Amino acid sequence: MSELASRRILLGVTGGVAAYKAAELLRLFVKAGADVQVVMTDAATRFVTPVTLQALAGRPVHTDMWDPGIANNMAHIELSRDRELIVVAPATADFMAKLAHGLADDLLSTLCLARECPLAVAPAMNRQMWDNAATRRNAGLLRSDGVAVIGPAAGDQACGETGMGRMVEPGDVYAEVVALLAPKTLAGRRVLVTAGPTFEPIDAVRGITNLSSGKMGYAVAQAAAEAGADVTLVSGPTSLVTPARVARIDVTTAREMRDAVMARAGGADVFVAVAAVADYHVLDAKDHKMKKQPGVAPSLKLAENPDILAEVAALPRAPFCVGFAAETENLREYAQAKRTKKKIPLLAANLAREAFGADDNALTLFDDHGEHVLPRAPKIRLARALVGHVARMLASR
Ligand code: C5P
Repeated sequence: MSELASRRILLGVTGGVAAYKAAELLRLFVKAGADVQVVMTDAATRFVTPVTLQALAGRPVHTDMWDPGIANNMAHIELSRDRELIVVAPATADFMAKLAHGLADDLLSTLCLARECPLAVAPAMNRQMWDNAATRRNAGLLRSDGVAVIGPAAGDQACGETGMGRMVEPGDVYAEVVALLAPKTLAGRRVLVTAGPTFEPIDAVRGITNLSSGKMGYAVAQAAAEAGADVTLVSGPTSLVTPARVARIDVTTAREMRDAVMARAGGADVFVAVAAVADYHVLDAKDHKMKKQPGVAPSLKLAENPDILAEVAALPRAPFCVGFAAETENLREYAQAKRTKKKIPLLAANLAREAFGADDNALTLFDDHGEHVLPRAPKIRLARALVGHVARMLASR
């Protein structure tokens, strides 16, 4: 089931070149099963036609305050009455100014003023318009009024200039909308997550590491942030982008990860250890590159790394701890044993060969009540299910 299935969104489109991106955003909403009502300003119709958006939405697009087709002539109330969110993408500088000052001189601005649901805007404009003190002031006013301002992004602009002001990509607006509509089951909770591998140097250019893309840990951090938590992600080396509203701390070795975690674990309500921490580090690692000597294979002396999860779980006022286990066989048996050994209330287990590097995974959760199977799905969806499970366990404690 998609996260936006049957969610009722009003997509407002205002007059900027980025209006073409609204078509892609609308397609993403519709594909996810959302129920989308599109409202365009007159200027927006100069950039994309209502027919295009109507075909994608599968229902009439509204542009006019005085539409005789609205039964009680109350378009400004009628069209947003049952909506869970209004998202205006793109939002021009002019439209943001109107919103900030409560003007209502067309259908979309009137709907925004008369709304009962949350409002999000994705600004799109020339960089100088975005830099203008009035626009910055208006964006600040909107934020302080509780409006979610999504972006803008930096990059090439339609006018040929480069700078801040592009509308963020439709996929990113979509992700923000998912987050805005997610139930805030972890509001007020501080969540600490580890992700990725650790890298243990042998010398300046070599090391030992574990296989881990970091995708599952980043998905957990994202899902926790969507659920309203204050999230810190302690990450080993990965090439992933930090999820929105997540504070990220980069580390390389297990010992660095341990220090970063222990400095924050006391203040955390939840600790989710997703990182594939190397079990050993190399004693006497060299700062320089070791030269190869023909016929001589050096041997490495290893020493055990700290078990971060066990250490956090043993704290006197330990956060709610969640462990991960990637196994190649005997999943249930090893997972149960690991949960008991590390004294943690919840452990998520998966078969290693199915998860590595992939965007999909399947998880089994083990807790005091037994096991809960989360069937194969994209990692972000599994992460949201895991976060929901944690929130329920926390609420029943
Ligand atoms: O001990 P094992 O690696 O099998 O357990 C996996 C779980 O323990 C994962 O949640 C992992 O993040 C955590 N772990 C840890 N520190 C280690 C080893 C594992 O936090 N040194």
